[in-house]
Amino acid sequence: AGGDAAKGEAVFKKCQACHRVGPDAKNLVGPVLNGVVGRKAGTAEGYKYSDINHAASEAGLIWTEDALFDYLADPSGYLKKYLTEKGAADKATGNSKMVYKLANEQERKDVIAFLATKK
Ligand code: HEM
Repeated sequence: AGGDAAKGEAVFKKCQACHRVGPDAKNLVGPVLNGVVGRKAGTAEGYKYSDINHAASEAGLIWTEDALFDYLADPSGYLKKYLTEKGAADKATGNSKMVYKLANEQERKDVIAFLATKK
């Protein structure tokens, strides 16, 4: 909430080093992000996730707007916190393959609003 999808399209250029959206999107370094808002974590078809992303998926992580807002600031940190809160601290080891962090809060809101338009 509070994001501007048009501005988010410009922010998404930073993500395009590793991700694609749209009808012809393919997995690259990172998974295809079509429909990611509301999607269960770790479920892009044909993409090989890190152990910690896979564990968070198994623990029930859904990419709500709130979850994405926290994740994009610090992917590995977010997944560790999520697993620990779910009582699966033993699985909160290793790091996400996504090392990129988007610190700017408004940019996070905007890019999430953009992704929400990509079903
Ligand atoms: C995973 C979003 C930038 C590489 C993910 C996931 C999301 C996401 C939501 C989890 C997908 C899932 O569970 O299916 C974004 C957004 C970005 C961004 C919105 C820009 C703001 C980047 C960049 C890179 C990258 C620049 C590469 C340098 C990856 C990788 C994964 C991933 C490798 C897989 C993570 C794993 O298996 O642990 N990204 N990403 N991302 N992203 Fe990004």
